[in-house]
Amino acid sequence: MARILIVSNRVAPITEGQVSTGGLAVGVLDALKKTGGIWMGWNGSVGSKSGDPCSQDENGNISQITWPLSQRDYDTFYRGFANGVLWPAFHFRSDLIHFRDEDYEGYRRVNRLFAEQIQRVAKPDDLIWIHDYHFLPLAQYCRELGLKNRLGLFLHIPFPSPPIFRTIPNNDALARDMLAYDLVGLQTAGDRRALHDYCERCLGASSTDGAITLDGKVTRTGVYPIGVCPEDIQHLAQEHKNSREVVKLKSGLQHRRLIISVDRLDYSKGLIERFRGFERLLDTRPRFRGAVSFVQIAPPSRTDVHGYRSLRQMLEQTSGRINARWTELSWTPIRYMNRSFDRPTLMSFFRASQVGLVTSLRDGMNLVAKEYVAAQSEDDPGVLVLSEFAGAADELAEGALIINPHDTSSMSKALQAALDMHAAERRQRHQTMMQVLKKNDLIAWRERFLSDLENPPSGG
Ligand code: G6P
Repeated sequence: MARILIVSNRVAPITEGQVSTGGLAVGVLDALKKTGGIWMGWNGSVGSKSGDPCSQDENGNISQITWPLSQRDYDTFYRGFANGVLWPAFHFRSDLIHFRDEDYEGYRRVNRLFAEQIQRVAKPDDLIWIHDYHFLPLAQYCRELGLKNRLGLFLHIPFPSPPIFRTIPNNDALARDMLAYDLVGLQTAGDRRALHDYCERCLGASSTDGAITLDGKVTRTGVYPIGVCPEDIQHLAQEHKNSREVVKLKSGLQHRRLIISVDRLDYSKGLIERFRGFERLLDTRPRFRGAVSFVQIAPPSRTDVHGYRSLRQMLEQTSGRINARWTELSWTPIRYMNRSFDRPTLMSFFRASQVGLVTSLRDGMNLVAKEYVAAQSEDDPGVLVLSEFAGAADELAEGALIINPHDTSSMSKALQAALDMHAAERRQRHQTMMQVLKKNDLIAWRERFLSDLENPPSGG
């Protein structure tokens, strides 16, 4: 197979030794580990000039080429347009869009810079695999620089329905530029349908099941749900099940049942709705008072982006209010932590819990849901309660308890059902989900995408 060149904004786990709770960095790293390749992108720091100094690190068979962003590019490209316009719109939150012309210009400027960096490194036969919403126009800039390589984009987040995509200023130019890719991969069939619908209705493109054609140029599209490496996770969780952190967790619980959630602190994750669902459980089912603890791990994220600071305040208020209402001398209902843990610790926490709770209001996939399942023991697995609005629900609907996070009482009923579920049913649900995870694992995701990128259908 050709050499693989991966481009993403975030290249490595955010802080050394800590897990990146954003699915992209973990997924790409695991996917590249097996084949090796080059991974290019932002080094996470703000310097005096974007792209300079450019440094190269060898990490096993992966070579990482990274550079800083200038303050102006960080403010406009990353904070302004990518996370202040595209992220909210793609998560169906047009009300949170904060648009400024200079942010859009910065977004385009940084995409041009990334294209130049790719041009410096790419060899003619490299397969170039670009990740996420930061780079919708990147292929177009690569083509303008004369690159002839096959260029694929994988969108880790949802694609919004056409009326919502249209709320993004310059939506038509962005979508046209997206069609400069040879292949656009999406997480779910619904995301792909939304992209096709927009291109047909708003750009006048023609579309078939697997391709969009505009002005004679054909862009292929595909559904590639990102997965995990279930065996590796099982192994990690098993190996660390008696680690110092797990012992501390268990001694704090004092044999109480545990509901656990882990998310970046983001408005798309439905954290407030989740706290309310847990409160309703305590309110309506007194037997759970003092008998169940809810641990929410939520490392702060994008703290300087509009919408995130107020969310953090709301969460502190809501968890504080619920705890003030129910806490007893020997029991705190919600343990809400704004910090992250390393990956082995998280996997072993999942294994030690009875319920994994994922309540995304919109989510491309939600790898935490898959990690939760993979970390369980086969004999005594926990139950996954999963929002129907996470991409993972498409694959895990048969084994998880599916909820609508806006429906507080059905969330609390699902929590009760999960806590009361007999071992035989838990085992059977877990097995069903494990089969899916093994079939659609991270390796399958990588291989399917790269093979479609490398081998266009005849005539393509
Ligand atoms: C999501 C996005 C990623 C992003 C990650 C962390 O998973 O899909 O592209 O890297 O969140 O967000 P951050 O803004 O810190 O990179």
